[in-house]
Amino acid sequence: MQIIQAKDELREQLREWRNADEHIALVPTMGNLHSGHASLVELARQHAERVIVSVYVNPTQFGEGEDFDEYPRTLERDTRRLKTVSADALFVPADDVIYPFGHDSATIVSVPGLTENFCGATRPGHFDGVTTVVARLFAMMQPDVAVFGQKDYQQQLVIRYMCQDLGLPIAIVTADTVRDDDGLAKSSRNQYLDDEQRRVAPRLYETLREAAESLRSGGRDYEAMEARAIRTLEAAGFDVDYFAIRRAEDLAVPDRDGDDLVVLAAATLGRARLIDNVLLTV
Ligand code: PAJ
Repeated sequence: MQIIQAKDELREQLREWRNADEHIALVPTMGNLHSGHASLVELARQHAERVIVSVYVNPTQFGEGEDFDEYPRTLERDTRRLKTVSADALFVPADDVIYPFGHDSATIVSVPGLTENFCGATRPGHFDGVTTVVARLFAMMQPDVAVFGQKDYQQQLVIRYMCQDLGLPIAIVTADTVRDDDGLAKSSRNQYLDDEQRRVAPRLYETLREAAESLRSGGRDYEAMEARAIRTLEAAGFDVDYFAIRRAEDLAVPDRDGDDLVVLAAATLGRARLIDNVLLTV
């Protein structure tokens, strides 16, 4: 596996692959790779002959007082892990490769609407940071395919919107959420949980599944179901940011006969902000 840091090295490698008529899939990450990320790489492999993983802890998507400084940076371990999955290259850009004019003077890519609620409401500017860095990675690499996780449901919708709106010819593929045996979605932030919080954390996914079950059995009072779930989570010790039943395609409030739904939630447990969701067709 090749490790690439510079832009011209990246260009050279991409040119070589393209000249051989190989398709390129990109898996953007912030590193501290776990089996969720590995599953993205495996899915990417099914869509392209070449898979490139980027590891970049993007400062512009972290707000004031968020965990940018303490975000786990584990490049050596990440490199070893990527060698065991089928990645062809690892792109580890320095700040000035991504933001040549510095991030305070960077061109911002901003998706309206979809970014205003949920994680966008609690983390102002977060999605602008995400779309700004992903647009840069897309511009540098022009991949045929890019793979994102369903765990960050709103994020992958925002990226899809950006690609359609900017006319970027990149197929966005969304990968299922990988979980621990007790249901907790794998996340780099799970390591902020102490033992007691780790024991409680799977309640988030359980509560999402309970809501999905009620919807499947005909429940349609979305607000009452949301309020009940929030009470359950608060009783378990979570500080709930949102718990919402929405239309899967655009996160709008569903009609009473809405069929493709997503139940999505974010809640804090100690220092860890956890997000998760369940998709369902009723
Ligand atoms: P990061 O949190 O490192 O996640 C990288 C990718 O892995 C995202 O697409 C995310 O949805 C996916 N992922 C995380 N946990 C997962 C799990 N348990 N199962 C499956 N996929 C999972 O998301 C980001 O980085 C950044 O915002 C990024 C897109 C790289 C832009 O900086």
